[in-house]
Amino acid sequence: MKRILVTGALGQIGSELVIQLRERYGVDRVVASDVRIAPAGEAVSEGPFEYVDCTLHEQVNDAVRRYEVGTIYHLAALLSAVAEEKPHVAWQLNMGGLYQVLEVARRYGCSVFHPSSIGSFGPETPKELTPQDTLQRPTTMYGVTKVSGELLCDYYFRRFGVDARGLRFPGLISYLVPPGGGTTDYAVEIFYEAIKHRRYQCYLRSDTCLDMMYMPDAIRATIELMEADPSRLEHRNAFNITAMNFTPEQLAKAIRQEIPGFEIDYRVDPVRQAIADSWPDCLDDSAARYEWDWRPEFDLPAMTRDILTHLRPKLELQGELQV
Ligand code: SER
Repeated sequence: MKRILVTGALGQIGSELVIQLRERYGVDRVVASDVRIAPAGEAVSEGPFEYVDCTLHEQVNDAVRRYEVGTIYHLAALLSAVAEEKPHVAWQLNMGGLYQVLEVARRYGCSVFHPSSIGSFGPETPKELTPQDTLQRPTTMYGVTKVSGELLCDYYFRRFGVDARGLRFPGLISYLVPPGGGTTDYAVEIFYEAIKHRRYQCYLRSDTCLDMMYMPDAIRATIELMEADPSRLEHRNAFNITAMNFTPEQLAKAIRQEIPGFEIDYRVDPVRQAIADSWPDCLDDSAARYEWDWRPEFDLPAMTRDILTHLRPKLELQGELQV
């Protein structure tokens, strides 16, 4: 088996994906890469690690050639809120990086995983049960790069036979590594604040409904899609997937079941609220269910219990919690 390269391996998804891929395929088979140096002692440093700036052709090419890479999980990207602050950087990284990855994949015959997002949809997209194939027209730079990335992956498959697959992730909730600058980050921060202070000030309105998923489901979905029988894949790329959808008020209620007395209040950030308002409330993921048997495992109560069970000891260990 050829090796796997993960770009953006120190990010929210990458840190957990690398661990799972190494468990599944072997530590030496998975090369983690990022534009930061892996911190010593982190799980990601236990196997091969390379500094790779994915916007530079030579660096991607070199890593793929030297490690005889057969599959690239290309995760390096800016998220929606930070992309709105730095649209030029977002275009450069999100599109420039994907282009270099696809070019190198074409040359070496690699498969590619590329995450798209609920951010690839826009205000004119149907909000309820958003279909797999529908009007997209996003109004954020993040969304523009995501929908362009979906199209570029399809193009490289049709034109050059690059096996490029992808998922439209909803907001991803995890406790290992925080997300960096997304609109859905509140659904991660809220757990830290609930444990530490029993209160949270939310930057989205109480009734803002968005699709969400717990990270173990997202990692499993990623690996299952890349292992799926290609003859069953009609879409191949940009599958809608979801596990739950909720508003901040509903999430606060679920947390209150576990932490009685937890309080939430609201101070709306107009930029992130406008982004969230342009996204769907609830995706239809039936294509993923039909074509590669996608099924989420965690609903809101199960995720809430699991994350609180794991996050509390982690914060105690880091000295962030009075015991
Ligand atoms: N979680 C992402 C964001 O908020 C959406 O894919 O930017």
